Amino acid sequence: MEDKKENILISTEEINARIKDMGKVISEDYKGKKLYVLSLLRGSFIFTADLVRAITIPTQIGFMTTSSYGHLENSSGQVNIVNDIPDNVEGLDVLVVDDIVDTGITMEHVINHVKSLGASSVKSCVLLDKPERRVASISPDYCCFEIPDVFVVGYGLNYGDYYRNIPYVFNWEDK
Ligand code: IMP
Ligand code: MG
Repeated sequence: MEDKKENILISTEEINARIKDMGKVISEDYKGKKLYVLSLLRGSFIFTADLVRAITIPTQIGFMTTSSYGHLENSSGQVNIVNDIPDNVEGLDVLVVDDIVDTGITMEHVINHVKSLGASSVKSCVLLDKPERRVASISPDYCCFEIPDVFVVGYGLNYGDYYRNIPYVFNWEDK
């Protein structure tokens, strides 16, 4: 990485402001509904923690783990459920929260899975959308930021086992 420099795509301040607004919109849209936020680990743990604190209506929160990129930058195109939803979501309004929709394969798989469990409604909410790389025919219902086709890290997103704790979203550029 010595010949690379950090390029901040989305600052902490921008993220915080956008999530506050997103929380308001979701709270309005889900008023009177049985909201269940389903956070996909590990990438969305930071986004989820901030998002649910911007939501002002009662909400349940659960976590699910799907197989991810591991150390690769490209999806295997196969999604495995490593840890399933711990609760019965039948009749609930599930909002699947992830860090990013890239090919869309993960989100499509999880949405179909949650539907098969009898949820009343299933929608998606992501911090980032990379529409240029889409393979599955889905688009997120709620998206904080659309980004170009660059590999990004920070704010929950990883490269190898690192960078999830960086409080903004960045990529590497040649010096
Ligand atoms: P998809 O199934 O291709 O949409 O990929 C979803 C998952 O790939 C996300 O939850 C991320 O964990 C990972 N991913 C996709 N793009 C990036 C990126 O630019 N940086 C880090 N992880 C990414
Ligand atoms: Mg992920």
